Amino acid sequence: MSMLSRTAPPIRAAIDIGTSKVCCFIARPEDGGGLRAVGIGHNVSRGIEAGAIVDMEAAGESVARAVQTAEQMAGERIDEVVVSVVTGRPSSQTLAVEVAVGGHQIGERDMRRILGHSRIATESPDRIVLHSLPVGYSIDGTNGIRDPRGMIADRLGVNVHLITAAAGPLRNLDGCVARCHLDVAAHAVSPYASALAVLVEDEIELGVTVIDMGAGTTSAAVFVDGACVHTDVVPIGGMHVTNDIARVLSTPSAHADRMKILFGSAVTSRDDDREVIDVPTLGESQPGGINHVPRSLLVSIIRPRVEETLEILRGRLEAAGVHRAAGRRLVLTGGACQLLGARELAGQLFGKQVRIGKPLWLKGLSEANGGPAFATCAGLLRYAARSNDDAMLAPWVAQASLLERMGRIGQWFKENF
Ligand SMILES: Nc1ncnc2c1ncn2[C@@H]1O[C@H](COP(=O)(O)OP(=O)(O)OP(=O)(O)O)[C@@H](O)[C@H]1O
Ligand SMILES: [Mg+2]
Repeated sequence: MSMLSRTAPPIRAAIDIGTSKVCCFIARPEDGGGLRAVGIGHNVSRGIEAGAIVDMEAAGESVARAVQTAEQMAGERIDEVVVSVVTGRPSSQTLAVEVAVGGHQIGERDMRRILGHSRIATESPDRIVLHSLPVGYSIDGTNGIRDPRGMIADRLGVNVHLITAAAGPLRNLDGCVARCHLDVAAHAVSPYASALAVLVEDEIELGVTVIDMGAGTTSAAVFVDGACVHTDVVPIGGMHVTNDIARVLSTPSAHADRMKILFGSAVTSRDDDREVIDVPTLGESQPGGINHVPRSLLVSIIRPRVEETLEILRGRLEAAGVHRAAGRRLVLTGGACQLLGARELAGQLFGKQVRIGKPLWLKGLSEANGGPAFATCAGLLRYAARSNDDAMLAPWVAQASLLERMGRIGQWFKENF
């Protein structure tokens, strides 16, 4: 490792610590704008359940391996990373804040002050504020202001979408990353990061829901009128589908996962009864320890679990009042959205037009690492690049990120507010 040079300033690095895989991307901003992946490392996760560290040693090794591979490919060492979060029960709330600006022209200082205020009002010793995203502004009681900078007012109001997560699991995530001698520059909630990677501006303006279908979690980020207004995480994912198959068919989970990927589907088709699949049974390595099951049985195991998971998520989005508000577009990310029929089933259950989201904003990815399972990691890089290269980002990201950065100078607010 000592042969590698120290990190040149503009390089950005991200680690997605997922239930099934740990992934590290290193990227460099390009001259003409945009980001290019120059280092990629990923491997099977150990010691991680539903995105939470359950074995520090094993998880630390998985992270270290991914980082090492990415660093070697990039030929650079990294010092700090942006890390994905699905653990710590991330939850969203919206807070309306108003401050006096005394008839002056509103500047960035006022914007920071008001967001800092909402952050301070929300943070507690056991819940950390991960994001404070402005949803809409008002000046002197007039709502619907997109960007109040430069306007003159007595009072500035903002609705802030705050995403918090439990402090304990976050400390363990950071501890795991620290084992690789890396600092955590920022955290980003996984579905929000995935959304940053795969959405186009029009979708964000018109309203869209992103659902990241992972191994241990299924999570959502909802955008309305150009802003992220809600996120949620359900701790059920593709791994639970695999476990159901393994249990019902008494087959090892590695085989159950392969069956799911090769022959599985979330929707029934007419030929399912005629197609027969060989299933090696648990503990039987000899020929003969094989059951023959119709594909319809496999589908009947898979469908209810996927349906239930998506229904739970939909119920939560309905309860939060964002299911309808987000319009008719749904974008799926995460490895589990590649299940045959997942798109169709999600379309039926949500009543929306569905597309599969792949990382759009990161160049240099291959077929193997440019799919929906890598959306979170790619999105983390875009999130990481936000402060240095706002110009390449859509205005909504630039605006959000300007205010996001303020989170890192929380102390400043405490002293100045
Ligand atoms: N072609 C496929 N068809 C069906 N399922 C698939 C396919 N490819 C991957 N999966 C499933 O996707 C899941 C892994 O997805 P992903 O890599 O997004 O998870 P993760 O990020 O590690 O987990 P999480 O985000 O929940 O912590 C596994 O359950 C795997 O079985
Ligand atoms: Mg994931």
